[in-house]
Amino acid sequence: MCGIVGYIGKRKAYPILIKGLHRLEYRGYDSAGVALINEQGQLNIYKAKGKVSELEAYAADKDTGGTIGIAHTRWATHGEPNTVNAHPHYSESERLAIIHNGIIENYAVLKAGLMEQGYTFRSETDTEVLVQLIEYTQLNEHVDLKTAVQLALQQVIGAYAIAILDKDHPDTLIAARKGSPLVVGVGQEEYFLASDATPIVEYTDQVIYIEDEEVVCIRMSGLGDEGISGTTNPLDITTINNVQKTPEIKRLELSLSQLEKGGYPHFMLKEIFEQPRTLTDSMRGRVNVRQDNIALSGFIDNKERFLNAKRIIITACGTSWHAGLIAMYAIEEFAQIPVEVEYSSEFRYRKPVINKDDVVIAISQSGETADTLAAIQLAKSKGAFIFSICNVIGASIPRVSDSGCYTHVGPEIGVASTKAFTAQVTALTMLALCIGREKRMRGLGDEGISEEQFVRIVRELGQIPNKISRVLEQEKRIADFSKTFTYAQNFIYLGRGYNYPVAMEGALKLKEISYIHAEGYPAAEMKHGPIALISQEMPVVVVAPHCGTYEKVVSNIQEIKARKGRVIAIVTEGDEVVSKIADYVIEVPETEECLTPLLTVIPLQLLAYHIAVVKGCDVDQPRNLAKSVTVE
Ligand code: AGP
Repeated sequence: MCGIVGYIGKRKAYPILIKGLHRLEYRGYDSAGVALINEQGQLNIYKAKGKVSELEAYAADKDTGGTIGIAHTRWATHGEPNTVNAHPHYSESERLAIIHNGIIENYAVLKAGLMEQGYTFRSETDTEVLVQLIEYTQLNEHVDLKTAVQLALQQVIGAYAIAILDKDHPDTLIAARKGSPLVVGVGQEEYFLASDATPIVEYTDQVIYIEDEEVVCIRMSGLGDEGISGTTNPLDITTINNVQKTPEIKRLELSLSQLEKGGYPHFMLKEIFEQPRTLTDSMRGRVNVRQDNIALSGFIDNKERFLNAKRIIITACGTSWHAGLIAMYAIEEFAQIPVEVEYSSEFRYRKPVINKDDVVIAISQSGETADTLAAIQLAKSKGAFIFSICNVIGASIPRVSDSGCYTHVGPEIGVASTKAFTAQVTALTMLALCIGREKRMRGLGDEGISEEQFVRIVRELGQIPNKISRVLEQEKRIADFSKTFTYAQNFIYLGRGYNYPVAMEGALKLKEISYIHAEGYPAAEMKHGPIALISQEMPVVVVAPHCGTYEKVVSNIQEIKARKGRVIAIVTEGDEVVSKIADYVIEVPETEECLTPLLTVIPLQLLAYHIAVVKGCDVDQPRNLAKSVTVE
C-alpha cells in the first residue's frame, strides 16, 4: 500500500518521479504528491487528491525544477483521502519533507508529546507525526539529519518505508525501512529509490534491497567520485542503531516490456491471456515430461523437513489463500500429510500451536503482504520450517523464508490477481507431487500417489498451457453473455473438492472489479442456507467439471433450476448433462482432477473482467484496493 519513489542525480527529477508514480499506482491511488528542491534551494510540494494524472494536471504550471525529489501515491490509512492528508508532509518549519508507506502505530502518543512542545499539525496522518518527530529530535539533540532519523525511528512502533528531503541540505536524500519495501537503484552518478523496482528498471539494473531498520543516506556531493565501492562513498547504509552496513548490489531481472500493456486495453486482460506462457515459465526446468519427473530445488534441498513434517500449515491472504486451499486437497491426497490453511491475519494473532517439526508454507504474489510476513515471523520464532511461494524476486517474504519457490510469472500489475494464482496452484501441485512420490519411494506410506498417477499428472501438466489457450478462445462468447449479468446485485459461485476454492476465487474476482456482491460456496452447502437466495434474479455460477463429485453437483444444479435460478456452468468438453439444464455453458478440456482449477478458473476471470468492463468499472485499479497490502 502506498508507493514511494525518489531521485537524486543530475537529471531533472520531476519527470522521473511522475513516471515512477505511474508504475507504482497499483499500490494505491487515493492521492499523489511530489516534493522537489529547485536550483534556488526552495522546497516545493505539490499534491492532489485522486490519481497521478490529477497531480500532473495540478503541477502543470508550477515550478517543477530540481535534480532531487521524492514522490508518493497513497492508499489512505490515517485520515481521509484528501489533499491535506496527501504526502509529502512538511515538518513544522517547512524545512523537511517526508513520504511514507506503512503505519506508525504509536503516532497518537508521539503526537501528544510533540503538541506539548508546541508543534502543530495540518493533517490527520501518522506520517506528519514522524517528520515532526525527526525535526524535533534534530533541534533538541543538536544532531545531523541522519542521526535524527535514526533516533526518531528508535521511538517508532509500526511499519515504514520513508524518504526525506532537507531544504538546508539539497545534496542529500535520506530513506529508511521497516516492514515496508524499499529498493535503491544505483545508476551512473544518480540514485533512485522506490517501493519496488518498476520505477527503476529503465534507468539501471543495479539495485540494493534495503533491509528492516536500515537507514540509507545518499549525498550528492559524493557523486562523481569513486562510486559506492570507492573511498568517497555517496551511499551510506547504517542501522537505526548506527551499525555500519555494506551495500550488496544485485542485478535486476525485469524488463520494461513486462511493465506495459502490449496492446491490451487493461493489464488484467493481458495477464489473463499471458497464462499459457506464464505457466510454461513456471514449470520450465522443473517439470520434465520426457523423463516423467519434477525437480523442485526448494524441495530437493529440504526433503527431510517435508518428509518428517507431522503437519503442514499454509498461510496466505486473498487469492493466495485460495491457492493454498487447493494445495490442501493436493498435499493430503498425494502426500498424506495433514494440512491446515490459515488466513495470515487470523493466524498471527490467535496464539496458534506451532511445533518445530511443522512446515509452514507462505503464499504471496507480492512477497510483501504485512499479515503473511508477520505470520511467517511468528512461525519462525517457534522453530517451524518456512517455505514460501512468491512471485516478486527479492521481496521480503522470500528473504525471511528458509526456502521456497518463485512462480516466475513476471510483474502482475492488475490489482485482481490472475496469472499469479494459476502459477501458485501449479507450484503447490508440483510440491505435493514431489513430497508424495518421495514418501512412497522411501516406503513411508503407500496410500498416497502411485507411480502411474504421478506420471499421468506430470504429462498432463505439460499439456495445461495448450489447454488454457483453448479456454481463452471462448473469450468472445463469455464477453457476449457477460452483458446479460450487469444488472445483478448478487452472484453465488458453487464448486466442490478442488473446485470449491475456484468458486471462491471466481466470487472474489467479481467482487473486486465489478463491485457486485458475490459468494463462493461448497455446492453441497447450498441447501443449508444460501438456497433461500435463489430466484430468477440470482445468477449462480457452478464449477462442474468431470470429477469425483460430478453427479452430486448436477443434482445441485437441478435444485437451482427448480427454483428458477439462472445457471452459468463451467463443464468438461463434451458434457451432455449439465449442458442441457444450464442457461450458459463454458467448456474446458478434460484433465486430471487436481489440475482442473487451472482450467476452470480461466472463464471465471474472463467473466468478472467483462462484467466489470460493461459496467464501466476501473478494472486495473478498483476502488479502495491496492495490489500490495503492506499494512494490517
Ligand atoms: C487478489 O485479486 C487480491 N487483489 C488480493 O486478495 C491478494 O491476493 C491478497 O492481497 C494477497 O496478496 P499477495 O499474494 O501479494 O500476498
